[in-house]
Amino acid sequence: MDYKTNKNKPAVFSGVQPSGVLHLGNYLGALKQWVEMQEQYNCIFCVVDYHAITVKQEPKQLSRRILDVVRTYLAAGIHPAKAVIFQQSAISAHTELAWILNCAAARLSDLNKMTQFKDKSAKKESVSVGLYDYPVLMAADILLYNTDAVPVGEDQVQHVELTRTLAQRFNRQYGQVFKIPEVVISEQGARIMGLDDPAKKMSKSAASPANYIALTDTPEVATKKIRRAVTDSGSEIKYDLKNKPAIANLMVIYSLLTNISLKEIEKNYQGQGYGEFKKDLAEAVKKFLVEFQIKYNSFTDDEVRQILKHGAEKVRPLAEETLKTVKNKLGIN
Ligand code: AMP
Ligand code: TRP
Repeated sequence: MDYKTNKNKPAVFSGVQPSGVLHLGNYLGALKQWVEMQEQYNCIFCVVDYHAITVKQEPKQLSRRILDVVRTYLAAGIHPAKAVIFQQSAISAHTELAWILNCAAARLSDLNKMTQFKDKSAKKESVSVGLYDYPVLMAADILLYNTDAVPVGEDQVQHVELTRTLAQRFNRQYGQVFKIPEVVISEQGARIMGLDDPAKKMSKSAASPANYIALTDTPEVATKKIRRAVTDSGSEIKYDLKNKPAIANLMVIYSLLTNISLKEIEKNYQGQGYGEFKKDLAEAVKKFLVEFQIKYNSFTDDEVRQILKHGAEKVRPLAEETLKTVKNKLGIN
């Protein structure tokens, strides 16, 4: 299937940063939706390395992680014949459009509202300007490709809303250029919480690895983490977000991995305790990880580089076309 011949399908754009180990939250909140969307839409999935360097990265490790994010996409089920995969820094239009948006659309007052920046910069001694400006680069990523839909986890909703604001502001001032994208979040998995604390999201920057199940954890490690995952008072397996947030989170993970509904899970575990449920959850996670990791380990670095190269070739003309239109509007072509 050729990307460019599918012009009338809605366009989907999303990305993941190569900045740490990817975990079940990334898979259930983002990648799982992407895999479903690639069948119906024109999908572009980016490895956003320029976002990753908003915080310090060790260069060798960053090169490795860029390839590993692609392998994660592939192992999750993204197929390079159905969706385009590319590396953000390969297409200079991303940073060029980000600069233009910085000047022509974004305001300090917009960025001052971004809660992720507040979280990420809190208690840090030195914070890069890039970390502050990160949502504008994200807007550029999305707007370059006339994106209709952006599938992300809940933590990115505010950034997509900002993207809409910037696009609308630019269009009002310079004439219609950008399509206004919609955010798409998974019904259940948009916010997978930490195994060690159901009040905090599962995160690669968590202080303890007990917070997350990495997609590269061995089944044994994952089983241990599940066994030790915090639970709520009582012993009933019941989906009650307010009173039983820890069990509710484990139930969501189980439900998304097995396609068994929350209602059915409640029914199946009537009269049984947390121990039984955790044992079955560990089995489901193990089955997922084993299949995932076989695929993950099956791609060579050369194959991955080829995929990135082809992906960049496919998106470059689209990005350049948008950038040209934008520059024309500004009178700088
Ligand atoms: P990041 O790892 O921050 O680049 O995030 C990649 C994607 O995973 C984004 O769409 C995030 O919103 C999503 N994501 C990250 N953590 C979680 C989580 N705990 N639950 C659901 N989605 C998540
Ligand atoms: N900021 C996103 C995250 O941390 C990653 C990202 C960058 C992205 N550019 C994007 C996601 C464009 C969707 C669309 O998860």
